[in-house]
Amino acid sequence: MKEIIKNSKMHRSSVYNCSVVELPKVHNRAGNITVIENSDVIPFDVKRVYYLYDVPGGETRGGHAHKDLQQLIVAASGSFDVILDDGKVKKTITLNRPNFGLYVTPGIWRELINFSSGAVLLVLASMKYSEDDYLRNYDDFLSFING
Ligand code: TYD
Repeated sequence: MKEIIKNSKMHRSSVYNCSVVELPKVHNRAGNITVIENSDVIPFDVKRVYYLYDVPGGETRGGHAHKDLQQLIVAASGSFDVILDDGKVKKTITLNRPNFGLYVTPGIWRELINFSSGAVLLVLASMKYSEDDYLRNYDDFLSFING
C-alpha cells in the first residue's frame, strides 16, 4: 500500500491503483466489529470522517476528483456503485459489505450511483475538507492529470 502512494505521486493516477481492501472483522454471533487504525489497513492517517446517507432512489453523487486527497470508501450499510475514471479507463466497483473498503488515490474522477434504500457511504479521508482540493469540472480534471 505504501508503494501505491509513492507511485501515485510519481505517475499519472490510474484506476488500477484503486483497490478493494478487506478490513479486519471481529466476528461475534451477537454482531461484528470492523476496526480501522491509522497506517494499519490503509496507507494514510485519517484526518476526517464523513458519511453520506438518506440518498433518494436514483440519485447520483460524486462527479468530481481530488488533487491530493486519499480516501477509503465503505458501504457501512446497504450498497452502491462507484465509477472510477482516470481519464483513460473507467472501472465500476460495487460496495455492499461493511468489511470491505475501496481505496481511492488522488487524481481519480468518481461517480456514486445505484444507492440502495438505507445505504450509508462512510468515507475515511487523508485531509480536512478543502474546496481547493476539488476538481469539479471534467475538462479541468483532464488538464490536471495530463499535467
Ligand atoms: P461533495 O464532496 O461534493 O459531495 P458528494 O461527492 O457526496 O456529491 O460535498 C457536498 C457539499 O458538502 C460540499 O459542497 C460541501 C459540503 N462538505 C463539507 O462541508 N465538508 C466535507 O467534508 C464534505 C465531504 C462536504
